Amino acid sequence: MKVYIKTYGCQMNEYDSERLAQSLLEDGCTRVQEAEEADLLLVNTCTVRKLAEEKAFSLIGRWAKMKKQRPDLIIGMVGCLAQHLQKQGFKRSPAIDFMAGPRAITQVPKIAKQAGCGKPVSEFGVFEFGQGWNPKYGERSVTAYVDVMEGCDQFCAYCAVPLARGREFSRPCQDILAEIRRRVASGTREITLLGQNINRYGYNLPDKPDLAELLYRVAEIPGLLRLRFLTGHPKDFTQRLIRAMAEIPQVCESIHLPLQSGSDTILRAMKRGYTANDYSELAQQLRAAIPGLTISTDFIVGFPGETEENFQATLEMAEKNLFHNAYCFKYSSREDTVAARLPDQVSREVKENRLARLFRELERSALNIRTSLVGSRDKVLIEKPDIRTKQRLQGRTRTNHIVNLEGPREWIGKEIEVEITAAKNWSLSGKAMQEV
Ligand code: 5AD
Ligand code: SF4
Repeated sequence: MKVYIKTYGCQMNEYDSERLAQSLLEDGCTRVQEAEEADLLLVNTCTVRKLAEEKAFSLIGRWAKMKKQRPDLIIGMVGCLAQHLQKQGFKRSPAIDFMAGPRAITQVPKIAKQAGCGKPVSEFGVFEFGQGWNPKYGERSVTAYVDVMEGCDQFCAYCAVPLARGREFSRPCQDILAEIRRRVASGTREITLLGQNINRYGYNLPDKPDLAELLYRVAEIPGLLRLRFLTGHPKDFTQRLIRAMAEIPQVCESIHLPLQSGSDTILRAMKRGYTANDYSELAQQLRAAIPGLTISTDFIVGFPGETEENFQATLEMAEKNLFHNAYCFKYSSREDTVAARLPDQVSREVKENRLARLFRELERSALNIRTSLVGSRDKVLIEKPDIRTKQRLQGRTRTNHIVNLEGPREWIGKEIEVEITAAKNWSLSGKAMQEV
């Protein structure tokens, strides 16, 4: 069977798509880059914002037209939206042959075969880490994500993830270490550990290892150059974790720490469990312990009840030149969340206006940070050819700045000393300090 996979959403979803592709390849499928060439069409979906849901259904709408010409085509919706919608998905689009949640991903080859027999099928069962997932890594990649936990118990008022991905569930250290060893042996140099609220890693495991311990153990793997983790929660950051980040040479000087809002009233309504001041203090502590640390963040504008004054508090946080990178979202109401039932939903126009103002401010401060780097030198791990120019290379500093530079393809996978020559809005240009 030829399979086409389209992915929407976060890094966790990209990782799930990789697991999905691997399971299908092991079952004898081949992967194609064009939907028109495929027999099995899969969309790996995301529940976080309504837009991703709309995009997934409009894609399935286009595939449904193809299916009219070719009734043997199999269409599957997988991932976190599939889990959330469950059988309702079949009602939303009768062209869907099967739905499978994120924890049933390794069952997709079996489910697709059943669906090929003509009946809509669904599988949302719990997939145990380590049991259904034992990949043979065919593809060599410089950087890789490794899932360390699934689900989230935090229930932020706006968020559909706990509903879609279920309760927190950590993967045993041994399995994670074994996966990373295999990855590193196949040439991977940088690993990003993934979890929705990764600071809670290990709580449900028998010997209760924490994220700090996991970092120490991963760092013992020979050949691993760089280590990162996503996504930190400002509420659950321990001193032990800060010390581990400072002490472990492979842990990069960069952290993604979603703030969401600068207003304490809104943070409380969001049930985030910290104030703007707590966040600033944590950022200060982290920067004192880890020289050169960069911080990236997420913001949501237009949470129900957000006033212009509340939004000003967010703008003030953005003005502090704290963030070298930021992702801003308009609040999107998700069914069955606490926030969906709140009064004072903010209008689309106001959300768009605030998003544009916040984005302008963040762009300005990120550019300030990047401009201050022009003329400095840093080590860049070369990841891939620059997608836009193809002639140039793209890599990242340990501080997670993207750097584009001239160089031969043989540099991919190597750390190269680079002088920063120019700052762009969201990336840097550099010149290698060694002969091309
Ligand atoms: N609306 C808008 N943004 C959201 N996020 C999560 N849920 C929503 C929602 N309902 C954002 C948060 C989170 C990021 C992954 O997505 O900022 O950190
Ligand atoms: Fe959603 Fe909050 Fe969990 Fe992040 S920590 S996945 S925003 S509920």
